[in-house]
Amino acid sequence: MTNDSQPRTQWLGRWGFVLAATGSAVGLGNVWKFPYMTGEYGGGAFVLVYLACILAIGVPVMMTEIALGRRGRGSPIDAIRRVSAESKGASAWSLLGWMAMLCGFMILCFYVVVAGWSFSYLWKMLTGGLAGSSVDDMAAIFGANNANPLNLGFWSTLVTLATMVIVGKGVQAGIEKSVGWMMPGMVVMLVIMIVYGAFSGGFGEAVHFLFAFNAGSLSSEGMLAAMGHAFFTLSLASGAILTYGSYLPRNASIGRTTLSVAAADTLVALMAGLAIFPVIFANGMEPGSGPGLIFMSLPLAFQAMPLGTLFGALFFVMLSMAALTSSISMVEATVSWLTDNKGISRRTAAWGVGIVLWIISTLAMLSFNVGAEWTLGGKNFFGWLDYLTSRWMMPLGGLGVALLAGFVLNGEAMREELGLPPAVHALWLFMVRYVSPLGIVVVFLDALGIATLEFGVQWPWLLLALAVITLIGEFASPRLKQTLSA
Ligand code: TRP
Repeated sequence: MTNDSQPRTQWLGRWGFVLAATGSAVGLGNVWKFPYMTGEYGGGAFVLVYLACILAIGVPVMMTEIALGRRGRGSPIDAIRRVSAESKGASAWSLLGWMAMLCGFMILCFYVVVAGWSFSYLWKMLTGGLAGSSVDDMAAIFGANNANPLNLGFWSTLVTLATMVIVGKGVQAGIEKSVGWMMPGMVVMLVIMIVYGAFSGGFGEAVHFLFAFNAGSLSSEGMLAAMGHAFFTLSLASGAILTYGSYLPRNASIGRTTLSVAAADTLVALMAGLAIFPVIFANGMEPGSGPGLIFMSLPLAFQAMPLGTLFGALFFVMLSMAALTSSISMVEATVSWLTDNKGISRRTAAWGVGIVLWIISTLAMLSFNVGAEWTLGGKNFFGWLDYLTSRWMMPLGGLGVALLAGFVLNGEAMREELGLPPAVHALWLFMVRYVSPLGIVVVFLDALGIATLEFGVQWPWLLLALAVITLIGEFASPRLKQTLSA
């Protein structure tokens, strides 16, 4: 059992939490996943839905998660159980914590493989392994890098080891330090690449692709993907942000913190899009080339630009660091649960998790070579991990968190924890009670084929549904009055 009277570790500096949460949020999701998904789902409409999900679902849920973590001062499971108990809510809500922890771990199992790509490309950049002058050459290099399980396994093992070493060292020494210099570095690198892209001949096309919101071009699949990605990129519903929130000092403002993290994360994703798509269009590459997109397009750009090897190496250093600061946050929930409840040291917990992680991530790594044919319903193991977590577990977890905070928790507790001005608090409450859940449910219904959402056509209906649900909810919820008066 945890010792509630013992103060929990806290972030050292004033910026500790913001840096660490930004480090968790900004990662492969921004630079690797966002561009390739945007490419696969056709551009502007996907970007628009993604941005809408960040605002309407991501930001309110993130505030809630940080508040839950800080109030419950524990791993997702313990924190949610305590906070729910405080408001006389059912203890079953802690199942949300279990799902989050499992989800974070499942993500990590495929994340280290992609981080391994980044590390191996850094090595190739430094040793001249990325020579080639066409998209086909680059595709061949990417393919060869995946084909050998020993090679790919070496890199993902390296990532696993690095993650565990940092987590083993602890929150302050390990996590806080590594983020401070990495974030600014990442932004500088992206600026350099955008400037290069602006001269590459494909910039106009890239801007059009990313920001021309041609309604109707987005499939149901794409909508669900955009929503899932909003959760993924902000590290929500998977234990990371909630656990980091548990180390947040009392006096920090949750609202402002959340806005900084979400803004930084969105900025990096859009910058990555602006850096990558010009290269893709200038070289006649397919935007929908899938997960290898940045690894096949960027090396071409580095070859063509002055000081390309230097910039290329710097870029992959930054990407690898961004991946590490994220992978660290995924382990943190599980490690904090083990140390709080099982009476083992942080170091032992980290290595225990590391061994399980190594085994499962090796299976995910094999999806790119010997296990490519081990499929179920057309997806290999790597594909399933990604699909289950992003499309289902995270949105469901987010729905649970929103409903818990909106309807179950004592209004006073949340008001105290969030410390928002009254009008902003009312807005937050409206979002977690109605807007975020409705958004999540509608996208699910659409993806399941139960209802079809057609861009542009159904907004009046959606607004009407929101109004009706709000009315019902407000009448049905005796707590609201108490919440809004005080
Ligand atoms: N947000 C990270 C990214 O965009 C990924 C990530 C880190 C994450 N921690 C997480 C995703 C926890 C889900 C849960 O790369």
